Amino acid sequence: MASVRVVLLGPPGAGKGTQAKLLRERFEACQISTGDILRKAVADKTPLGTEAERYLNRGELVPDDVIVGLVGERLQQKDCAEGFVLDGFPRTLPQAESLEDILKAMALPLDRVLSIQVPHQIIVQRLAGRRNCQECGTLYHMNFDPPRNGETCDRCNGRLQQRDDDREETITTRLRVYESQTAPLVNYYRQRGNLREIDGVGKVEDIQKRIIDALGRPAN
Ligand code: AP5
Repeated sequence: MASVRVVLLGPPGAGKGTQAKLLRERFEACQISTGDILRKAVADKTPLGTEAERYLNRGELVPDDVIVGLVGERLQQKDCAEGFVLDGFPRTLPQAESLEDILKAMALPLDRVLSIQVPHQIIVQRLAGRRNCQECGTLYHMNFDPPRNGETCDRCNGRLQQRDDDREETITTRLRVYESQTAPLVNYYRQRGNLREIDGVGKVEDIQKRIIDALGRPAN
């Protein structure tokens, strides 16, 4: 059965989480979304969550050693054995180097690194309109993919919420942090020959098709 080992790179709001979920469903792969893992830890008030919360609220990056340990452990779990979609990791050069070491030790080469590109103005629209269900986590956009009932989830009727870091001032910090710390990874992976650039503007399903084409392998 076809599977994937892929990294999704891209600025906040590029659609990494949206596309990662579709890839996970299409291929036999686990989805590792570091932002989701950290937000859950904050909500559950775990020691990781207590440490991470101040970084998330400010739109800054959690220290590399914390996040590398977390991803390294997650990759060892059974559901990642056939493949993985990394969404939100790596985000710094040290994280990329650590990932290379981890995958080398596991004898699992990366298939592709997909850099999803979306203009600044569209990013701001996407983040401002994003809502997710407090109960089941389903993602919506109030303009592009609105819930049928206004403010409740179509699936479970749970209340929708806006992420704390989708406030205007935090969005500005997150975009600045992306440009200074994460954007250099595009060149890092380009030099390694496994980067593909994906136009992230358009319908969700059209972008997924571009991604599948860039992976160069049939879906299940
Ligand atoms: P994280 O949760 O990873 O946030 P992010 O990278 O800023 O990305 P987002 O989740 O905001 O956007 P996305 O690209 O997933 O877009 P989405 O699919 O939701 O990280 C949050 C924080 O955690 C960081 O700031 C940091 O503090 C910490 N952290 C995480 N990883 C870390 C790491 N490795 N190292 C250190 N710290 C780390 O889409 C956005 C909206 O647009 C949605 O409403 C969606 O419905 C809509 N949408 C998506 N696609 C389309 C489309 N094609 N057309 C119209 N609308 C669309």
